[in-house]
Amino acid sequence: MNRLPHTTAILAMTADGKIADHQGSAARFGSPNDKMHLEQQVSLVDAVLFGADTLRAYGSALSVSNLKLLQSRLERSQKPQPVQIVVSASGNLDSQWRFFQQSVPRWLLTVPSGAELWQAKKEFERIIIIHDTHKNNSAINWVSTFIRFRKLGLNKLAILGGGELIASILASDLIDELWLTICPIIFGGNNSPTPVGGIGLLQSQGKKLKLLEVKQIDQEVFLHYQVQGARN
Ligand SMILES: NC(=O)c1ccc[n+]([C@@H]2O[C@H](COP(=O)([O-])OP(=O)(O)OC[C@H]3O[C@@H](n4cnc5c(N)ncnc54)[C@H](OP(=O)(O)O)[C@@H]3O)[C@@H](O)[C@H]2O)c1
Repeated sequence: MNRLPHTTAILAMTADGKIADHQGSAARFGSPNDKMHLEQQVSLVDAVLFGADTLRAYGSALSVSNLKLLQSRLERSQKPQPVQIVVSASGNLDSQWRFFQQSVPRWLLTVPSGAELWQAKKEFERIIIIHDTHKNNSAINWVSTFIRFRKLGLNKLAILGGGELIASILASDLIDELWLTICPIIFGGNNSPTPVGGIGLLQSQGKKLKLLEVKQIDQEVFLHYQVQGARN
């Protein structure tokens, strides 16, 4: 049995490769079909992981509301809602956001200084504190974190972005699959977020993908990839 959870990143992207506009707004450019696709993917997992800037943009998380999807979770003996895990080194989050009123399990993944802001409060059901960060900075060591997730019963994860979070997990070769929805719109902008942020890879180091599936629904294309070289 693999000691790490299986991971799928799910993103909607403009035709010019952006996941948000240059103001970093919440990404609401996908169609209702894309929203259903996202909810379906979220319904399959034990936990959803997203970066603090994504939560800052939306103020809320996508919970599962479709009755058939909720029933399927029940049949698979999964909890009614996946755990919503915010990744934030700073811990700088606002308890007034709708996220903190939603009926979902909330966990915070952070470092000791970020945890200090939330430890005495009830907003998070669990705070996972990472002590073994890379190179003494606040970048999370994903391998040891994912081993902890598995021990906590999280076998399947959806990674919903944004690009900074995905870049750091991809750098550890821990993304197994990727769903990208190409939406018929262009945003442009040198600084608009893309599916994978960070400093980037040289062409010779690019992560290779295998195309597993292509679906077209109306004006959108849904691409399903396996990430080659990921450890599963
Ligand atoms: N189109 C889509 O499908 C989609 C999906 C998701 C998001 N988005 C868009 O993407 C934008 C946000 O993406 P983004 O790339 O700018 O940011 P992001 O990845 O959502 O969040 C970055 C923040 O998350 C925390 N973080 C991420 N990786 C970390 C790590 N390895 N170690 C410690 N902390 C880590 C840090 O939080 P702290 O600053 O608190 O330390 C960091 O500043 C928003 O505009 C959102 O609307 C689009």
